[in-house]
Amino acid sequence: MNIVILAAGMGKRMHSDLPKVLHPLAGRPLLAHVIDTARTLSPTRLVVVVGHGAERVQAAVAAPDVAFALQAQQLGTGHAVMQALPLLDPAQPTLVLYGDVPLTRADTLARLVEAAGQDRFGILTVEMDDPTGYGRIVRDAAGSIARIVEQKDASEAERAIREINTGIVVCPTAKLTEWLSTLRNDNAQGEYYLTDTVERAVADGVEVVSAQPGALWETLGVNSKVQLAELERLHQRNQAMRLLEAGVTVLDPARIDIRGELTCGRDVTIDVGCVFEGRVHLEDGVQIGPHCVIRDSRIGSGARVLAFCHLEQAQVGADGRIGPYARLRPGTELGEDVHIGNFVEVKNSQIAAHSKANHLAYVGDATVGSRVNIGAGTITCNYDGVNKHRTVIEDDVFIGSDSQLVAPVTVRRGATLGAGTTLTKEAPADQLTLSRAKQTTIPGWQRPVKQPRQGTK
Ligand code: UD1
Ligand code: CA
Repeated sequence: MNIVILAAGMGKRMHSDLPKVLHPLAGRPLLAHVIDTARTLSPTRLVVVVGHGAERVQAAVAAPDVAFALQAQQLGTGHAVMQALPLLDPAQPTLVLYGDVPLTRADTLARLVEAAGQDRFGILTVEMDDPTGYGRIVRDAAGSIARIVEQKDASEAERAIREINTGIVVCPTAKLTEWLSTLRNDNAQGEYYLTDTVERAVADGVEVVSAQPGALWETLGVNSKVQLAELERLHQRNQAMRLLEAGVTVLDPARIDIRGELTCGRDVTIDVGCVFEGRVHLEDGVQIGPHCVIRDSRIGSGARVLAFCHLEQAQVGADGRIGPYARLRPGTELGEDVHIGNFVEVKNSQIAAHSKANHLAYVGDATVGSRVNIGAGTITCNYDGVNKHRTVIEDDVFIGSDSQLVAPVTVRRGATLGAGTTLTKEAPADQLTLSRAKQTTIPGWQRPVKQPRQGTK
């Protein structure tokens, strides 16, 4: 099968410099969703018709299996499909999709394609309570589809028809080529209508069949930011429902956003206001507190991420406890039962089992062993202004509060650093190391007293 995706339109009502089909839904361009769905049907040719912002659109979705046809002027949907014809296999049917209709399900399209087979004309239609603006499906006395009439060209009686053309059609390609070559633009919009090919098919004795989507929202398009926001909510609600059906506890399905792929084990709980981006996996029994942002990360079984955490390219081990207010940056790998507390930032560091940094710390470019305690206010000074250096903290180390570890530096197994230490040389194993000015008390010292002001009355 050939698939043609129409994506040349400007999207004037978006009031944006970004081409309409590149506006993001769930963090990805509308057109990327359509291409993904198209791919699940394994087309032999996949052609995107570009026009407005053609270069940006092509750059955004370029892939080895995607070809582009340029429609320099938008003269109508029929004209758009015509531009793709040289890139299609005439022996296979062609399915036409829209770059601004992102939520059509693959099984709906498969049903339409199945109904049309190799030599019928298939149209995806729906019944609408208010069909205003859409092309109407005109059927003959026997109930067969005779033609499609656009809103602007329709008579009063035709406008009363509630079955509409979603725009998604499939038909034999060699015939389509013939029909398109006969199109005229003598209609209310002065456009070459793809929909006029239906009449041609009927005249040619080609049977026209219809299929219906599982849900109306599958056929909704985006013409404005209002519609974009509506489709975003629909999509997010669908994803939340999928999680709930799979057994995930989502405290409020209206307050979760998944911009990518979230997979979960059993007995996972997600509190309100969380955003998941890229690929995120939550193992069995994970609990995510409210208002966390988690991107491209894995959370081990039984781990808890408390409120207001930000994780990116991080791995949390089993039974970990993160947050509230923790930030795990790329390259964070935490072992089992690691605790990262409030206002702690970890970057490009491995922290082994049972270690803790519970308050106000920065751990960057560090290798931390097991059962290490990193006191409040501790930081790794990993950056000398030019290069990054590593800090190594071996097993069973205790780092006193407010210490600075000036990398490259190593703290040997079992060492203790006194509070306030600025460590610039290796700390030996099992001993107390500290750098601290000696504490003194000045006997007889008196607090200054406030002087009376001069020259005021
Ligand atoms: C079209 C259908 C109408 C259907 C409706 C569903 C025609 C003549 N009408 O109408 O029956 O009910 O979709 O939404 O087909 N495009 C191009 N190049 C062009 C014109 C359009 O790429 O020259 C693209 C647009 O960017 C858009 C899609 O095709 O993604 C549909 O075009 P639009 O002008 O919105 O068609 P409608 O008038 O809504
Ligand atoms: Ca439209």
